Amino acid sequence: MAGDCCSNNALYTELEKVIADKSNLENPLIEILREAQELFGYLPEEVQQFIAEKMRIPVSEVYGVVTFYNFFSMKPRGKYVVNVCTGTACFVKGAQHLLQMLTDELGVELGETTPDNQFTLSSVRCVGACSLAPVFVIGEDTYGRIENRESLKSILAKYRDS
Ligand code: FES
Repeated sequence: MAGDCCSNNALYTELEKVIADKSNLENPLIEILREAQELFGYLPEEVQQFIAEKMRIPVSEVYGVVTFYNFFSMKPRGKYVVNVCTGTACFVKGAQHLLQMLTDELGVELGETTPDNQFTLSSVRCVGACSLAPVFVIGEDTYGRIENRESLKSILAKYRDS
């Protein structure tokens, strides 16, 4: 299982290299956490502990950063992260309704992952596509002006089991 120290020695070795490479940066913690999340898929407690020990900082400091930024996750994420924009323009144009439709279609609440590990439902602040509000992003793809449930379903279908 990801995050298990003994079955993931190669990942921890890689992470140790990342920490060594980045530690000269002015503010290395966020960059190290970002790379750690890419390596492990998420940031379980064991990984946070490891980073804290190697950086010689309190684990509470690592935890504080992980929980402050919502692009860091302490739970395993699905293959695709579905990010609903909750910025002002999207909020005004119906982000709540879009979020509700996604919640219904995926069968999970915000922050949760579908049982098949295909999708994690998350939220972001303005993604810079306000003219398309309300907007959501799957991986690198941005979708906007979702009029109805049918168009939402056909978008999600492209990512199911792919
Ligand atoms: S507020 Fe949603 S894209 Fe700008």
